[in-house]
Amino acid sequence: MKLIITPDAASATHVAAHLLADTIRQRPDAVLGLATGRTMEGVYAALADIHRAEALSFSGIASFNLDEYVGLPPSDPRSYRHYMQTHLFDHVDANERHIHVPNGVAADLKTECAAYEAAIRTHGGISLQLLGIGDTGHIGFNEPPSPFDTRTRVVELDAATRQQNAEMFGGDPEAVPSEAITMGVGTILDAKRLLMVATGPAKADIVAAALEGPITPDVSASAIRLHGDVVVVLDEASAGALSPETRALANAG
Ligand code: GLP
Repeated sequence: MKLIITPDAASATHVAAHLLADTIRQRPDAVLGLATGRTMEGVYAALADIHRAEALSFSGIASFNLDEYVGLPPSDPRSYRHYMQTHLFDHVDANERHIHVPNGVAADLKTECAAYEAAIRTHGGISLQLLGIGDTGHIGFNEPPSPFDTRTRVVELDAATRQQNAEMFGGDPEAVPSEAITMGVGTILDAKRLLMVATGPAKADIVAAALEGPITPDVSASAIRLHGDVVVVLDEASAGALSPETRALANAG
């Protein structure tokens, strides 16, 4: 695992955006695994800046998002498809036909999940998977417990997650959909490279649990330690509960 600790959130999201940009430069037809959440807003803003300032083209990439709420159509401003449009795709030259977000209003959700897995395979797998971390330790929406061989499926959201994500739903956790489609932990671990980003003091304890605690389905983010090519980018605040031993890994090589 490569660990990068930056002084503040802005520099963490900047570093993550540059890692994504490097992937696209090395492989203009890269298959990007994308994530949502407040942390990623900074990553996508920085990526859009790189697109403009350095003429980085997204025209050859394909993308697969981690998750989507069940019951929200892509046009719903609270859907992750809409989030991706406003935070990234409106600002870069990605080809709409190659953008994939699970369809939370599919008539048959089980078929939708299987088709999503098949589409990732057809594209040759994910080159780089961007990950945030939720309060429950989830990656994507892999709530505890999520076995490490899980694939794209419908999950029930944890009460803590509905609370964490209530802001977009008028502050009411009950208004947050109770289910979501998410790539499984196994789907995520199949990506060639993982890039986890966390910022802010509220993430410090769960980041430490994921990086130093037991590797367990109860903290799905801990699964990233089983992957051979992982970069974790933290700001000082989210790295605040790490042991000196883990911190010593930071910014080495
Ligand atoms: C949601 C997403 C996760 C993301 C998490 C963190 O729950 N499904 O993929 O990691 O939010 O969000 P934030 O960056 O807002 O803390």
